[in-house]
Amino acid sequence: MVKVKSRFVCQNCGSSFAKWAGRCENCGEWNSLLEQVAPTEAEAKSALAKGAVSGKKLQAVSINTIEPSDSGSRLGTGFADLDTVLGGGILLGSVSLLAGQPGIGKSTLLMQICAHVSAAGHKVLYVSGEESAGQVKLRAVRLGATSDLLHFASSASGNDIAKTIEEGGYDLVIVDSIQTLSLAEISSAPGTVSQVSNCGNLIIRAAKASGTAVVIVGHVTKEGTLAGPKVLEHLVDVVCNFEGDRYGGFKTVRAVKNRFGSTTEVAIFEMADKGLKEVKNPSEALLSERQNTDGSIIMATIEGTRPLLVEIQALVNPTNFGYPKRTASGFDLNRLNILIAVLEKRTKLSLQDKDIFINVVGGLRLNDSAADLAICMAIASAAAGRKLNDKIVVFGEVGLGGEIRSVIAPDRRIAEAKKLGFDHAIAPATIKDKFVLPVKDLRSALVKYMNNK
Ligand code: TYD
Ligand code: MG
Repeated sequence: MVKVKSRFVCQNCGSSFAKWAGRCENCGEWNSLLEQVAPTEAEAKSALAKGAVSGKKLQAVSINTIEPSDSGSRLGTGFADLDTVLGGGILLGSVSLLAGQPGIGKSTLLMQICAHVSAAGHKVLYVSGEESAGQVKLRAVRLGATSDLLHFASSASGNDIAKTIEEGGYDLVIVDSIQTLSLAEISSAPGTVSQVSNCGNLIIRAAKASGTAVVIVGHVTKEGTLAGPKVLEHLVDVVCNFEGDRYGGFKTVRAVKNRFGSTTEVAIFEMADKGLKEVKNPSEALLSERQNTDGSIIMATIEGTRPLLVEIQALVNPTNFGYPKRTASGFDLNRLNILIAVLEKRTKLSLQDKDIFINVVGGLRLNDSAADLAICMAIASAAAGRKLNDKIVVFGEVGLGGEIRSVIAPDRRIAEAKKLGFDHAIAPATIKDKFVLPVKDLRSALVKYMNNK
């Protein structure tokens, strides 16, 4: 009898091992290895041998003779900012992945897109493996999706869905979600690497063959990685992340991979009783409830190519027991620890026996290095009980030496601050503008401007 060989494949990153282990050596995920039957040696060998002899020479053509396939074949989503994120709408024949935590609003957003696209006279199909027709209908009614051209099917079969995409003559198909799909030929559970990558491949092939735009929903884990396999991100054309607070606050959609556009844009949404709404003037909304207490600093940040004013709040309390606690919501904790170390060393502020909490208002996540100065000033303000003048915004990167470094797009940050009625910006000294109060290092910034009790 031939012994069947098996491999252990990580369900998170897709790497495979000869032996089972509790933790994947490649990505460090715990308990993610699953046994899979490997192709036999004879099969592998014959495939290799075939590849070596039976290929034929490719017919390559000059790049100048090729017609670009992207001309007027995009579907508008009904959200101007989301269209920009996608590079001008959803391209026919493309496959996009919308990834986000459960409950963030993926199904809602896609149903709204379906409503818009079908109302514009396109044939649209919404396939759900998660919800019944009745549930989806309830949401559709609430969101005003009433066109006859919008079809619904409930299915968890990758094969059936691929076939429908290929032959249904739809312009747009939504698959909600990839983690619920499976192929009968594969024995592993839905959501595993082999199910997701094979279903994904079938759907992608069907989409390309029929010129249908497909949007696949993918759930992510709390840590923000795609639940189940990361492999899907490599297969699709566009990967959009839906991030933010599940319970109110702003939600952002940004492209982390886009074969047809840039990945710098971001669309900002808010959940209302009739679905998601684009937030047109986020700075104003973010600042509307502000109280100027100590520990509160307004920072001018950039989201994509868009300037945004956000409030950063710090709370500094004496540590009652054990190690001091440092917590950040909306900001990287490692970066916070570095900034606290810089503050202690370069400004002689004593923080080793203080609990420090940072909050970025509105559920936003800051990935902007220009937040450094605002975070430092917020901590210093909270620690000293002093306030910054409330007509001043702050931006700048802080180096380990306590020096203030220049950041991208200072003019756009300044323009946004002016627009919202601020008088000055504390910013790197390299910027030549009358609006800017230039600072060279952290210490002088605190000494000079942190003076109102
Ligand atoms: P949903 O789109 O189902 O999230 P996901 O598909 O990402 O899991 O719904 C997200 C939440 O939004 C849900 O808890 C209910 C809420 N919601 C509204 O507040 N208003 C609405 O109009 C709709 C449709 C949903
Ligand atoms: Mg859903």
